[in-house]
Amino acid sequence: MKSREEINETEKEYWNERKLDRTKIKPLRRHAFHFSYIREKKLLKILTSKFKDQEVLELGSYVWASWIKGHVQPKKLTAINISQAELENGIKHSKNVDFPTEFHLMDANNLTFKDESFDVVFGGAILHHLDVEKTLKHVHRVLKPNGFILFLEPLNMNPIYKIYRKLNPQERTPDEHALVSSDFKILKKYFTFNHFFMDFFSVIFGFISLKIYGDRNYDNWLNRIGSKLDLITSKVNFLHPLFARVVIYGYKK
Ligand SMILES: C[S@@+](CC[C@H](N)C(=O)[O-])C[C@H]1O[C@@H](n2cnc3c(N)ncnc32)[C@H](O)[C@@H]1O
Repeated sequence: MKSREEINETEKEYWNERKLDRTKIKPLRRHAFHFSYIREKKLLKILTSKFKDQEVLELGSYVWASWIKGHVQPKKLTAINISQAELENGIKHSKNVDFPTEFHLMDANNLTFKDESFDVVFGGAILHHLDVEKTLKHVHRVLKPNGFILFLEPLNMNPIYKIYRKLNPQERTPDEHALVSSDFKILKKYFTFNHFFMDFFSVIFGFISLKIYGDRNYDNWLNRIGSKLDLITSKVNFLHPLFARVVIYGYKK
């Protein structure tokens, strides 16, 4: 088994050298996620309003730019990443913001901030690149009492997605692991949380829509039906493993 140090080196290399190739999946995403991106934007707008005047930490380095820039002002934004190239992207976005920012090259599995330094810890598509147990223990430690978490992560419980991932390794770093039910058990140990599951029917309908319309006309009745079915079925607990992504939000225990 690879050590965490070896995994970190691979992650660094993949992100510094831009090694991933997601060109094949992009047209399907434009169909399948057309309406869920709209829903995601609304959800994140509500959830990130909690960042106002707070000390916030992003694991990653620049989803903050799309999640909060121009919408809510934290007291201070701190962001970390293991890749200098990724960190630079965050720094570039921070040039004209009205709140203080700080960027650190740091391993999220081993945060070096003092205990109870932040009101909020958040990230987009990051936990699944990490050792979830190690990272969440640190997140719990660096959060102040009743601190808030917000993560948007891919899931790997649906066999269709598992097969797709196996067949398309070029889209992922070798050691990443989209979340499974055992990761939710770890979350439960440290946080009380809730979630919004997204993207099952939207992917099926998005696939048909892509076949019919090609890489255009994403705002169509098929994608709309897929998204409506997701809204209904995501309320049923035992169907959660079908979905591709999840928004998790909650508080430090
Ligand atoms: C799918 S990308 C998400 C990008 C990021 N959320 C953003 O948009 O700013 C995964 C990110 O995890 C970072 N990463 C991987 N392992 C890490 C680690 N051990 N500590 C910190 N960042 C890590 C990668 O460099 C990459 O930026």
